Amino acid sequence: MLIDMIAGARPNFMKVAPIINAIKKRRSEGADLSFRLVHTGQHYDKKMSESFFEQLNIPSPDVNFGVGSGTQAEQTAKIMTGYEQIILEEVPDVCLVVGDVTSTMACAITAKKCGVIVVHVEGGIRSGDWRMPEEVNRVVTDSITDYFYTTSEHANNNLRKQGVPAEKVVYVGNTMIDSLLANLERLQKPAVWDKGNLRQKEFILMTLHRPSNVDDGAGLKKIIDRVCTLSGDYPVIFPVHPRTMKMLDMDEMNYPNLLAIEPMGYLEFIYLLKHALAVVTDSGGITEEATVLGIPCMTLRDSTERPETIEEGTNELLGTDPESLNDSFDKLMKGNWKKGSIPYLWDGKTSTRIVDHLMSIS
Ligand code: UD1
Repeated sequence: MLIDMIAGARPNFMKVAPIINAIKKRRSEGADLSFRLVHTGQHYDKKMSESFFEQLNIPSPDVNFGVGSGTQAEQTAKIMTGYEQIILEEVPDVCLVVGDVTSTMACAITAKKCGVIVVHVEGGIRSGDWRMPEEVNRVVTDSITDYFYTTSEHANNNLRKQGVPAEKVVYVGNTMIDSLLANLERLQKPAVWDKGNLRQKEFILMTLHRPSNVDDGAGLKKIIDRVCTLSGDYPVIFPVHPRTMKMLDMDEMNYPNLLAIEPMGYLEFIYLLKHALAVVTDSGGITEEATVLGIPCMTLRDSTERPETIEEGTNELLGTDPESLNDSFDKLMKGNWKKGSIPYLWDGKTSTRIVDHLMSIS
């Protein structure tokens, strides 16, 4: 059985790594399983891509289309053309896509049109916010997915409502958490730890990259201002995504407690997250990681496709008005943040369950 594993952008890499390991393990036990690792090149900076391959021991991609930056349509078109060529060279049995980035949708469409079975890891999640390109990617991908590997009962319900037959939905858990748990012993202290004289639970971590927060420079500045002010004497560590960097005028960012740094490697980032007092973010994946690590998480978005991180985990959805941070910081500084629990099946064994199911497809 030949499986194409699709990875294109930073949040994909920690989702495919444990599945590749599970496939290799099963193959070493004699299973007829092989894979091609297809990198679309949607993310291409060393810090956004290559460093994840190195740190997570992901094998070099069999192919990299190098599509790079562009509009949604440009990226989609280049990825589809590149992937179609690969399928024409050798038709895989299964195309496995993860998450909700443009590479996910583009490869799913291409595979389906070539008659290849499409499986979607993290299928079924919905934010309901059509302004996000990720929501379009999710809905389009799921409309042509053959098997859904889901992370939550919310995802299962969304698929049920959509009329997906029960036998196509496999509730497996969260591969991002497989990576998290597998690497907890390998975390690396980043250079900023000593540079910023950081101490455990005495700094705030911040990440911002959603267009709704960063594409308007004045709005972005307001968020940074609020977080730095509310953090008081605590340092604010801000690894800056390339999209965000384009909007920042570093000369205006003169807050004594702000440390804006380049995007971080996975092992360094999780080290910081694990030791932070709290994280302020607009990422989806970080809300999951913070939930499992028990770190207070403030999400600057109007919606989430991961409601379990709020109902069960440590996440709070604050909207995009920076003033909403006031009450949350007050609660945090008084030590009143909710404790949270770990969602069902986020246990580090999700990839094994996925490979078990893949074997049953053949
Ligand atoms: C993409 C995903 C988003 C994910 C995020 C994580 C889509 C629609 N969005 O958003 O879901 O949360 O990745 O990072 O797929 N850039 C670089 N170097 C890189 C990558 C990007 O400089 O390695 C710059 C590009 O100039 C580009 C901008 O960052 O204009 C945004 O990149 P893009 O891939 O379009 O989307 P992200 O905002 O990264």
